[in-house]
Formats: sequence, structure tokens, C-alpha cells
Amino acid sequence: MSRLDSVIRRLTAQRVCLGYVADLIATVPGPVLELGLGNGRTYDHLREILPEREIFAFDAQVTAHPNSMPDHDHLILGDFSARFPMP
Ligand SMILES: C[S@@+](CC[C@H](N)C(=O)[O-])C[C@H]1O[C@@H](n2cnc3c(N)ncnc32)[C@H](O)[C@@H]1O
Repeated sequence: MSRLDSVIRRLTAQRVCLGYVADLIATVPGPVLELGLGNGRTYDHLREILPEREIFAFDAQVTAHPNSMPDHDHLILGDFSARFPMP
């Protein structure tokens, strides 16, 4: 498989997973949490497919594209492992 096909497959899987999760939480009230804003690609997609939902994004640092940046009240900076300890 070429590297191009590999990237296309990975990003397609990412989009399918986000759509699947959006369907799963359709009847679950409350905000959506993005753990790992990164460059903001996922955040940008989430706000497109979940336009009615409040979305909070977490990251240790700000590296998102300016067009994919949450506003100040929806960006939580710092190590999220302290807030969301993994088992
Ligand atoms: C792969 S990137 C996220 C990609 C992004 N969701 C996208 O595709 O648009 C992972 C991000 O998680 C952040 N991250 C990883 N572990 C973290 C932690 N314990 N606390 C805060 N941020 C963390 C990193 O700084 C990085 O920006």
C-alpha cells in the first residue's frame, strides 16, 4: 500500500469513527470533550457534524490552526491525564 493510500485510509477511518460516535451520543445530553486538540482537524469536523453541541477541547499546548481554534472558554490547557485518569 502506498503512503498516500495509507493516509487516506487513516483519515477515512477517523471520519467514520467520528460520525459513528456522533450518532451514538445523539440522544445523550451534555457537552462533547475533545481530548487532544492537536492541529484542530478533529475539532473542526466535530463542530461541523455536531453544530448544536457545546464542545470543549483539551491539550497541553496550543498548536491548532487559527481557523480551528476553540474560543477561550472552550479550550482547556494542561495535562489532561490528571483530569481523566486512565485505568
Ligand atoms: C494526535 S494529536 C490530536 C490530533 C487531533 N485530534 C486531530 O486529528 O485533529 C494529539 C494531541 O494530544 C495532546 N496530548 C497528548 N497527551 C496529552 C495529555 N496528557 N494532556 C494534554 N494534551 C495531551 C498532544 O499535545 C497533541 O496535540
